[in-house]
Amino acid sequence: MELKGKRIVLGVTGGIAAYKAAELLRLLVKAGAEVRVAMTEGATHFVTATTFQALSGQPVFSDQWDARMANAMAHIDLSREADLLIVAPASADFLARVANGLADSLLTTMTLARACPLLVAPAMNRQMWENPATRRNVARLQADGIGLIGPACGEQACGELGVGRMAEPAEILDAVAAFFTPKRLAGKKVLLTAGPTFEAIDAVRGITNLSSGRMGYALARAARHAGAEVTLVSGPVALPTPAGVERIDARSALEMQAAVMPRAAASDIFIAVAAVAEYRVAQVAGHKLKKDAGGIPALELVENPDILAAVAGLENGPFCVGFAAESHDLEKHAQAKRQKKKVPLLVGNLIADGLGGETNRLVLFDDRGIHHLPPASKTALARQLIEHIADLTGADDAPD
Ligand code: CTP
Repeated sequence: MELKGKRIVLGVTGGIAAYKAAELLRLLVKAGAEVRVAMTEGATHFVTATTFQALSGQPVFSDQWDARMANAMAHIDLSREADLLIVAPASADFLARVANGLADSLLTTMTLARACPLLVAPAMNRQMWENPATRRNVARLQADGIGLIGPACGEQACGELGVGRMAEPAEILDAVAAFFTPKRLAGKKVLLTAGPTFEAIDAVRGITNLSSGRMGYALARAARHAGAEVTLVSGPVALPTPAGVERIDARSALEMQAAVMPRAAASDIFIAVAAVAEYRVAQVAGHKLKKDAGGIPALELVENPDILAAVAGLENGPFCVGFAAESHDLEKHAQAKRQKKKVPLLVGNLIADGLGGETNRLVLFDDRGIHHLPPASKTALARQLIEHIADLTGADDAPD
């Protein structure tokens, strides 16, 4: 529940992307936010207020003169208590009005009268986006400190291709979560490894493991939200790259090592989450091995380099965080691993629940002792772990 207790007003303007605002509302509510929706009259032609009312569990407003507000001050009352106003989709017309301080509808009046920050997710035809008038308005909004999410490039409702599509609801949720995260790692460079490695046997087969990469990706996202510059060296996984994160794909342990080592010295924090294969096949067959080649093949294995230990051994290297997935005796094995690899923070988890799930339970081992993080989603655990790393590395909240 990364937005628990946050009060958000979601403004919806008229545009075909208004249907995606329903999904955004669902995601915001699922993340724990209390959301109230204000629509322009135009938006009601695309999606009904009933949809937003059902999803938010709150009355929806579109009329300035709505008699439901006791004091006829909907524009003040709706945004007074809000922590954030987010307008998605934000039409070209809405951006123009806000850029010029117009207040001719409930939503524009509320925007002008607000005391909270404003984020907008523009959505419009590519030529409207490129029009010099829109460019001027967007520059004005940015100069006024209004945050922009997107727009994205892609196929548009009108059939054209270009910049102007509204950012996807999940990306907007991400930007909202980032907005609320204290920037404790601002100015820091964080390097991570995540996912499994794949060690080839022949042209089509290999040795791998069940790591989904979710914990590493959640940590990359949380570090980015905390203001860090993040590079994620990723094994083969089917996960989208977190917004604002540089991703480098590496298939085998050797490829992962080649991607990590040149970047490690310049990093402030290295978090090794990848489940790196301990061994690789000595002789990889360039072709597909055939069954009828005679007998059962014997695989000769050689040891892979230990990437975490190598980074931890660098002089003036980054603050290193290791992971240990254990099936039993977690504390004993985790403490031994921490000593052996010489890392200040080792994160242990019992794999009784299986690898690759949505939730996890973590135990942190560091110089200050042992800390248990209660079972939670990987997103929530990642946020707590990044906080813990910020505590240990003495990172402070950046000044506003
Ligand atoms: N690690 C690494 N390079 C390797 C092996 C592991 O960087 N070649 C990192 C992992 O990313 C993780 C930690 O080291 O942070 C895990 O250590 P490891 O000794 O591999 O743990 P297990 O795989 O759990 O080992 P074991 O089989 O001995 O329990």
